Amino acid sequence: MIPEEPFPGVFMLVIDDQEIVATRNLTPGLTVYGERLVEVGGEEFRSWSPFRSKLAAALKKGLRNEPLKPRDKVLYLGVASGTTCSHVSDIVGSQGHVWGVDFAPRPMRDLIEKVVKHRRNISPILGDARHPETYAAVVPKVDVIYADIAQPDQAAIVVKNAELFLPARGWAFVAVKSRSIDVTKKPRIVYAREMESLRQGGFEIVESLELDPFERDHAMIVARFRP
Ligand SMILES: C[S@@+](CC[C@H](N)C(=O)[O-])C[C@H]1O[C@@H](n2cnc3c(N)ncnc32)[C@H](O)[C@@H]1O
Repeated sequence: MIPEEPFPGVFMLVIDDQEIVATRNLTPGLTVYGERLVEVGGEEFRSWSPFRSKLAAALKKGLRNEPLKPRDKVLYLGVASGTTCSHVSDIVGSQGHVWGVDFAPRPMRDLIEKVVKHRRNISPILGDARHPETYAAVVPKVDVIYADIAQPDQAAIVVKNAELFLPARGWAFVAVKSRSIDVTKKPRIVYAREMESLRQGGFEIVESLELDPFERDHAMIVARFRP
């Protein structure tokens, strides 16, 4: 079987009659969160669970714009213990790099133990995404910002980071958890408001997708900065 590759570094494999999203394992033999390893054509792939990762959920839901590619530089806000980041690391490959920011020490420790120790293309940053100037000395201009911080002011935080690290026409993924922003409003109202804040900050909204049933009341926004 030759795996289908709908986007560079993102694969769709059919296993036991089920289509699964996967990435080519940069660290053959090693798993990050108990995901299944599958060998196809002499290469090892890691299954990418849409129930554990909003980007995999978006891909399963038919995302049309997935700008990540090998050699990319990525700033990841809300990296946590690295579930999604490990797949982003697979996609950008050994010539690319991911700078992963999180302000919580515990998941950051897990990220270092389980992921960073085995992958040379991830730099962990214990820091607050609201203050990008605190990590500006170690993060260069990037191709993509991936934001998953579940904060009410997430759009403003993404814009602040974009102004420092994203060149014109750079891309952003923004995962929106409606309940973290406003529990009293319908999710679609919250998504529309977040998109408007991103537009006001200089982004063009390229695509947005609701992630139900994989992640209830979540959406993924794909946006382009100063297009
Ligand atoms: C939903 S989790 C991220 C899950 C991860 N993106 C994944 O898919 O594997 C949100 C993370 O954002 C972090 N976070 C929230 N606000 C933050 C901030 N202002 N700066 C840095 N990290 C933040 C939290 O500590 C948490 O680990």
